[in-house]
Amino acid sequence: MGRIVFRDIDSLAPAGGEEGRDREHGCEQEEGAHARGIILFRTVSEAVPTPEELRSALGLLPTGVTIVSTPGPEGPAGATANAVTSLSLDPPLMLAALDRGSRTLAALQEVGRFGVNVLRGEHAELARAFSGPFTHAERWSDVAWGVRHGVPVLDDALAWVACELRESLDGGDHVILVGDVVGLGANGDGEPLVFHQGSYRALGDQGG
Ligand SMILES: Cc1cc2nc3c(=O)[nH]c(=O)nc-3n(C[C@H](O)[C@H](O)[C@H](O)COP(=O)(O)O)c2cc1C
Repeated sequence: MGRIVFRDIDSLAPAGGEEGRDREHGCEQEEGAHARGIILFRTVSEAVPTPEELRSALGLLPTGVTIVSTPGPEGPAGATANAVTSLSLDPPLMLAALDRGSRTLAALQEVGRFGVNVLRGEHAELARAFSGPFTHAERWSDVAWGVRHGVPVLDDALAWVACELRESLDGGDHVILVGDVVGLGANGDGEPLVFHQGSYRALGDQGG
């Protein structure tokens, strides 16, 4: 891709119309624009954004990908999550946000412990499994894991952090979980998995 040019959709000729609308991402595409290095954007400043607009805009922010894990009543539970960040170094705190309907959240709040497993570039299938319509037993059946500090941890995680739940806060349709870090492991060899505009990528990958 050549030089990147930002162009406001509203400045385009009406030719795009409904046909040019990318329904999945809630934005509009000019045919061939991406290949020509043109990124189209729409400024939404007046109206309260719809969930789709919010998802589409924030999809432009690349994130790492993790599996938030917790011991469940019938074995480990876990879900793919990117709403995860370090919160405080002293004391060491982690933050994760889980949807109120998440089965992992229910198990986590029961036991009061969780792990954050940082995925590798080659873990896209794992990320799909842990976000797809599977039971937790199915999700964990094909992956090597062990228990560290009372939480399930992937043997092959790029890094993992074990937390004790300190606080659950209201986060709209999500619950914000603040955890005291009680243990961690890091294997710096390898690249992290990256999520950007709805696709999994490896770091440095130009996409496609
Ligand atoms: C890249 C990616 C990131 C996600 N991040 C989160 C997240 O931060 N919080 C969340 O609740 N769900 C997130 N999800 C959705 C959950 O992974 C998905 O709803 C999962 O099925 C929940 O499983 P559970 O009900 O067993 O907990 C994400 C999905 C993907 C693909």
